[in-house]
Amino acid sequence: MNFEYHNPTHLIFGAGTLSQLGEVASRQGKKALIVTGGGSVKRSGTFERAVASLKAKGITFAECSGVEPNPRIATVRRGARIAREEGCDVVIALGGGSTMDAAKVMAAAFYYDGDPWDMIYHGQPAPHVPTRALPIITVPTLAATGSEMNMGAVISNEEITEKSFVQAECLYPAVALVDPELTLSVPKDQTAYGVCDIITHVTEAYFNGVDGTPIQDRFAEGVILTMLEWGAKAVADGEDLEARAQVQWASIVALNGWVNAGTNGGFPVHMIEHTLSAFHDITHGAGLSVVNPAWMRFAANHRPQKFVQFSERIFGLKAKGSDDLDCALQGIDRFEAFLKEIGCPTRLTDLKIDDTLLTRYAQETLRIIHDEKGNLPGRPPMSEADIVAVLRVAL
Ligand code: NZQ
Ligand code: ZN
Repeated sequence: MNFEYHNPTHLIFGAGTLSQLGEVASRQGKKALIVTGGGSVKRSGTFERAVASLKAKGITFAECSGVEPNPRIATVRRGARIAREEGCDVVIALGGGSTMDAAKVMAAAFYYDGDPWDMIYHGQPAPHVPTRALPIITVPTLAATGSEMNMGAVISNEEITEKSFVQAECLYPAVALVDPELTLSVPKDQTAYGVCDIITHVTEAYFNGVDGTPIQDRFAEGVILTMLEWGAKAVADGEDLEARAQVQWASIVALNGWVNAGTNGGFPVHMIEHTLSAFHDITHGAGLSVVNPAWMRFAANHRPQKFVQFSERIFGLKAKGSDDLDCALQGIDRFEAFLKEIGCPTRLTDLKIDDTLLTRYAQETLRIIHDEKGNLPGRPPMSEADIVAVLRVAL
């Protein structure tokens, strides 16, 4: 292992912490751009409480509402314009991953005179990596992406059917104010998709990372086992605040860089899913739930050992040897059964996606990211034919 680790985000976690927003924001600026989604924060009362806390500390604000799931670059442009016109000096994201991602890129676009789409890595020769952004405060209302405490954002461009990411140091939120009470209103399906997203953030590094990472393996297994137990509880009873808190914490842990430190793996399942959501506007976690088990079966056939470890440690199966493919595949079956049990789709047809564009999805995925041989990075690297084969199995 050979790596650097750095995460500057100040995390404040716990039920009721929303009331600290005004105090937290007053340390970052005087006028906030509050970024929200399609209205859930208004219906739940979260917005009103956030505004009351800001007002109590003398923070004024402008609003950019209407960030859509799979947030659009046009919305990012709009938000950056509002922030400039209104003279905002801090950005507060109040919502799910889509709202947080859009808010992060708005904060960077504030200082960029070009088109913020230049920042999104979509196969262009030299993406613009932002180096400056307004301070960002994330207040997640849905546990899934980990965007609240990482330096990534994923943005869609519907005009050209593309969805891809930016990663930049300046996109680390200054503060993540994480109040699990805000997730009590998340519906069952979105809760389950979030659980799948959280698990997939750690399985990507677990299965695609370098060898010899025993501590990271145990961290990842801890996240997965916790989600099998507490994720299922949160789905079964959305009012269970303790379960909501565990899932919310897992969302942060899974993708704030700590669990995956030193693994240096690709994220092939994510890359394929992003193409599917670009074409079909599906929920990210639902797409992962279809692609991940299909990808796992493909990868296990190439390298069963890590999947055997997964089967033994996660599901208590007993392998005949370290390369027992049957045991590896049984573990994957059990994982897929869990996803189904909590209400996630496991077939492309569940998402109303048929086989007409499989080659196109593979080509688009590879256009956005590929290694020097033209393959999708991961273990094993995937050719266009491999991606099509995985998707065909998932139909
Ligand atoms: O838009 P509103 O009205 O707020 O409703 C949302 C939306 O319809 C709703 N919701 C959120 N909080 C709620 C709530 N409904 C009731 N009560 C609440 N408390 O849930 C729906 C989905 O929201 P969204 O933000 O789209 O979901 P999620 O958090 O799963 O974010 C998905 C986006 O994040 C990207 C995905 O690709 C996708 O675009 N990702 C971002 C990552 C990152 N920045 O690190 C990593 C991930 O792998 C992922 O790619
Ligand atoms: Zn994800």
